Amino acid sequence: MSVCILSGLVSGFSPSIMSAKTLSGQEIFTKNCSVCHSVAPPPKNAPPITPLAFRYHQRFKTKKEGVNHLVAYLKSPNKNTSIDPQAITRFGLMPAMVLPDAELRTVAEWVWDQDNPNMGVGRGIGRGRGMNQ
Ligand code: HEC
Repeated sequence: MSVCILSGLVSGFSPSIMSAKTLSGQEIFTKNCSVCHSVAPPPKNAPPITPLAFRYHQRFKTKKEGVNHLVAYLKSPNKNTSIDPQAITRFGLMPAMVLPDAELRTVAEWVWDQDNPNMGVGRGIGRGRGMNQ
């Protein structure tokens, strides 16, 4: 009897006494974005991250510009500012992300860093392209 009560107490306590530690970009992505986005193709309900990162690198010269644009997009997705409007045709518009600015910035930097020139992943043709003609 007492054992039961005890174990109930213990399991009730164990998870979730987590302090507000700073999450990494990867963790923020897994928590908030990976429902829709895969990192590399094939896509889930949204374009995969590596081809998107590649487009950001093509469009913006510096990480700072790219990250600024990305943060703005995450807050308020819009087909006029999208770097890949065809993805909207294919997947629909992304919902706005309600996250603290610091987390948006961290995850945006992580997205930017997913275009790794040494890996060759996501280079060139994004999956969302040329499929609706
Ligand atoms: C409910 C599904 C969903 C979630 C959650 C989601 N996205 Fe998206 N995302 C989409 C879809 C759909 C698109 C393609 C259409 C568009 O660009 O709006 C997209 C587009 C994007 C783009 C391309 C933006 C551009 O400039 O065209 C980036 C980058 C991105 N998402 C990153 C993220 C990150 C980072 C998160 C988490 C903080 C996230 N997404 C969460 C569905 C989602």
